[in-house]
Amino acid sequence: MVRGKFITFEGIDGAGKTTHLDWFRQRLADKLNTGVRKVVMTREPGGTPLGGTLRGILLAQPMDLETEALLMFAARREHLAQVIEPALAQGDWVLSDRFTDATFAYQGGGRGLPRDKLEALERWVQGGFQPDLTVLFDVPTETASERRSAARAPDNFESESETFFERTRAEYLRCAAEAPDRFFIVDSTQSIESIRKRLEEVVASL
Ligand code: TYD
Repeated sequence: MVRGKFITFEGIDGAGKTTHLDWFRQRLADKLNTGVRKVVMTREPGGTPLGGTLRGILLAQPMDLETEALLMFAARREHLAQVIEPALAQGDWVLSDRFTDATFAYQGGGRGLPRDKLEALERWVQGGFQPDLTVLFDVPTETASERRSAARAPDNFESESETFFERTRAEYLRCAAEAPDRFFIVDSTQSIESIRKRLEEVVASL
């Protein structure tokens, strides 16, 4: 059995990734269309019953910065063991709404946790495992904040300051510059139609 591919969607809150996720999943499913492999759609924090419980805590409860990073990685360990690894091993493709780049961006860039601590946790939890492809929805923070304010009541992260999101965005872009072969950056100020054209290129490249 050929191993499946692992694809992640990233971006600051309000960057618009959610708008494109379901459409992208469907395009991937059309592409696979062999009847054997399927596309497993999942998200972080979350993706498992335990991860869902941790998500509820992480988004709503105030906590120490290091506790936050540890819980993100604990949820991720469970997600890898229960969902991502078994799916890839049986040839399915996995599409995740956020993964480890989000921890570097939010807990590292946004909150300021030193990168070497996050790298140590990353090695512990996932060894050398990385997504095959990461689509980064990039948008200026002012645009993202306008989009966010139109949405529902903000959670722990959505209520952060503009400068928090500046640092988060900068760290996403640093991650992308460090792994240019893995990242595909989408200019999320573009119209939905032109973003879909870019995403078609992504699907074709897989
Ligand atoms: P998000 O995925 O944007 O869901 P929704 O669209 O329902 O708001 O929300 C998850 C939040 O968790 C988001 O603000 C980013 C944050 N987060 C981290 O801070 N670190 C992480 O490692 C992950 C996976 C998410």
